[in-house]
Amino acid sequence: MSDDAFRTVIEPFRIHSVEPLRMTTVEHRRDVAREARYNLFQVHAEDVLIDLLTDSGTGAMSRDQWAAIQHGDESYAGSPSYFIFRDAVRELFPYEHVIPTHQGRAAERILFSAIGGPGKVVPNNTHFDTTRANIEWTGAEARDLVIDEGHDPGSLHPFKGNMDVERLDALLAEREDDVPLVMMTVTNNSGGGQPVSLANLRAVSDVCHRHGKQLFLDACRFAENAWFIREREDGQGDRDVVDIIRDMAACADGMTMSAKKDPMGNIGGWLAMNDDTLAQTCRNLLILTEGFPTYGGLAGRDLEALAQGLREVVSHDYLRYRIRSTAYVADALDRLGIPCIKPAGGHAVYIDATAFLPHIEPLRFPGQALSVALYETGGVRSCEIGSVMFGRQPDGSERPAAMELVRLAIPRRTYTQSHMDYVIEVCERVRDGAKDLPGYRIVEEPPALRHFTAAFEPIG
Ligand code: F0G
Repeated sequence: MSDDAFRTVIEPFRIHSVEPLRMTTVEHRRDVAREARYNLFQVHAEDVLIDLLTDSGTGAMSRDQWAAIQHGDESYAGSPSYFIFRDAVRELFPYEHVIPTHQGRAAERILFSAIGGPGKVVPNNTHFDTTRANIEWTGAEARDLVIDEGHDPGSLHPFKGNMDVERLDALLAEREDDVPLVMMTVTNNSGGGQPVSLANLRAVSDVCHRHGKQLFLDACRFAENAWFIREREDGQGDRDVVDIIRDMAACADGMTMSAKKDPMGNIGGWLAMNDDTLAQTCRNLLILTEGFPTYGGLAGRDLEALAQGLREVVSHDYLRYRIRSTAYVADALDRLGIPCIKPAGGHAVYIDATAFLPHIEPLRFPGQALSVALYETGGVRSCEIGSVMFGRQPDGSERPAAMELVRLAIPRRTYTQSHMDYVIEVCERVRDGAKDLPGYRIVEEPPALRHFTAAFEPIG
């Protein structure tokens, strides 16, 4: 256990292997941004200094995970690595069927191919973009039912990821036959990495089961969510985070998972559930595109690394450091008068671009403007989560997103505190020139998930 008497929460690890960063200049980064047509997904990672695009697959594996890689068994069927992986998942999420996939969206595609389709509606607190896209791809509707506080960047509600239980109940009453299952995203990534309380999960679970509906967790950041429960929810403060995770799991009937987040993998995911018939359908779909059910889209070595990652992520020392180091950035930005979603999320700090750049209207993409400025100014790559990501509607129309955010996602165990001090300084410099930043227009875009490949140009 760490000594709580000290103010400084240190990284609970030391560095064993290092990767060089390539230093670049403002002039170079301006050229790079122009060549990438102002889409940071199109920038080569070597031209990025601090990469906060995502916390997905970008974490540093531990010595013990690299050792586990050597233990990988690459048998096509029945590999011992699968059983090690399955048992590590079940230690936390004791579902009957555990089906590996190459990443989270593969689990989503399989699940929604099995249960989606035109006329269906899938409620969630807030769908992540790939979840929404996979639901809409089948012709179904993805409905967000997060509590009102979840849309208010300034609200200090401790569980802004909670589902609005009354609206869920009403939807289930009205559209009972059209709802194949209910999802809960923990933590709520698109709503600011905000946690869901155990009380809310239990209430949602009760409503679902009263209506005869299964509840599935989109559980990418389950350990961070459980740590927030331990810190913020009445009566949870003395509990082991593993027990809290098992309580979360017990509320649901299954899960989709990206193992690139809390399980500390560079690749991986899974689909788990209790329903035998649904599991059989999903396994059949899995074989079509991912592979045999004991490896999904993964190598045996990946399965072993994930099993070890699952053991590490539930460490209290790790989670205390993780959540504190994210809040460290948010607190510093707050002191600089840079508007962020409060309280800080688990894996990321979300800057409120509407408040930061009030002169840029939503459909001129203030989040895009801010993320380009952070890159050009300091080589910090962030991600717009606003009208670029969510503005295009299934019917082709354009509507401003609920919030215009820029996410600084913090990879796990990858950057040190001085890297974060540098990021804070870059944000400060952008703040000083904020009023002169231009809005953007989209000059080219694909039919779905446009934020990955759209091309932009500055206005004026
Ligand atoms: N669900 C949530 C809540 C996610 O955050 C992600 C990915 C997925 C599902 C899909 O998982 O990437 O393994 O296919 N989020 C990443 C991010 C990409 O940057 O937030 P995947």
